[in-house]
Amino acid sequence: MGKFLISGGTSLGGEVTVSGAKNAALPIITATLMADEPSKLMDIPNLRDVNNLCRIISKMGCDVKRNQQEIFIDPLNLNKPEADPELARQLRASYYILGVLLAKKGWARTSLPGGCNIGNRPIDLHLKGFKALGAEIRLDHGIVEVKSKKLKGDRIYLDYPSVGATINILLAACKAEGTTIIENAAREPEIVDLANFLTVMGAKIKGVGTDIIKIEGVEHLHGAEHRIIPDRIEAGTFMVASALTRGEVFVRNVLTEHVKPLIAKLHEMGIGLREDIAGVLIKGNGSLKAVDVKTLPYPGFPTDLQSQMMVLLTQADATSLVIETVWENRFMHVDELKRMGADIKIDGHSALVKPSKLTGAEVTATDLRAGAALILAGLAAQGDTEIRDIYHIERGYENINKKLASIGAYIKKAN
Ligand code: EPU
Repeated sequence: MGKFLISGGTSLGGEVTVSGAKNAALPIITATLMADEPSKLMDIPNLRDVNNLCRIISKMGCDVKRNQQEIFIDPLNLNKPEADPELARQLRASYYILGVLLAKKGWARTSLPGGCNIGNRPIDLHLKGFKALGAEIRLDHGIVEVKSKKLKGDRIYLDYPSVGATINILLAACKAEGTTIIENAAREPEIVDLANFLTVMGAKIKGVGTDIIKIEGVEHLHGAEHRIIPDRIEAGTFMVASALTRGEVFVRNVLTEHVKPLIAKLHEMGIGLREDIAGVLIKGNGSLKAVDVKTLPYPGFPTDLQSQMMVLLTQADATSLVIETVWENRFMHVDELKRMGADIKIDGHSALVKPSKLTGAEVTATDLRAGAALILAGLAAQGDTEIRDIYHIERGYENINKKLASIGAYIKKAN
């Protein structure tokens, strides 16, 4: 399974470069299947989730070639519109094949998706959207099947601005007849990146990045080239690492407008920051002010940085309140942080974080971002920390141990 061994207590310094965004790469890789010609994608991170998705589409008949951070996907021989059930269960984003293949082939099947165990994770809003476009849906023993002779555009109101549902409906609507309007759409930068790629492929999309997206269906989409945006959550994790260890790290390849909520909170805490077009410099301070944090859909504070922020708040000068509104089960890192000496009390969706001294311990990563929080805690703690089940972390962070070691962290991977 693998573990990380960390000796904490040193300040980080230097420069670290952020990889392409996992949550943009996954739908964009799937979107290449909409064309009948090859596409080339750049800045694709080398991650377990990305590699599993590439295996899924290869098994469907696509030709996938990888050269470092670039991948070439030729969907010409796609002949099996069905995701391998074993692989599909391993990553949530495998359900994007539903929207894509419904549009392209009029039929698709996958097993109900997996991913991190951070909540109930229903897909009712995705299915509501497909139904509105005229698809028939069958759910049977964990298998979802969608089919339609011809999708027709419609007006779809999302009860919650779900990232996945917005993406899946957007994908399907690109080839539907007429106009589709998604109301209360999610506004995350990864959706904008996907829409930019689809537009280069020939799709007609307006309003992306706002809560109303309008899509005019087209008959044909062609292959395209695209560079994936930087991963704002990886960037945020390094920014917190620098602040937490009282370090001075320049985090390169960050679109700072994507990390505004984190920048605002770090600023409130009294942490030194300098933004420029290449990235952001974070200069840790001796004393950190307590702040309250509430997670929200973009442009609110991202749930995917909540656990990392909580570790930083254990080092603040007073009690902070963290409220999680996106996922119902996203405090799984708290029990592990308590083993390291953190003083955190959970009450429903809220956590009270009191100042505490962290010490090294043996802990387990329960999901991707919980695992990232444990790495951060290990860097700040006195003594040695051993993190088990790091496969969760490797689903979403490319070479995190090597990148942290390059800025002075004592971190090693062991079996
Ligand atoms: N929801 C529903 N019905 C649906 C879909 C979602 O009730 O049909 C609920 C969920 O249960 C949850 C909330 O809506 O409570 C948010 O879910 P959303 O659909 O927005 O999330 P997602 O698309 O499943 C993506 C990211 C997550 C990130 C969330 C929120 C990917 C592959 N995953 O998930 O990233 O936390 O958006 O920003 O893009 C991660 O990278 O660690 C991760 C979990």
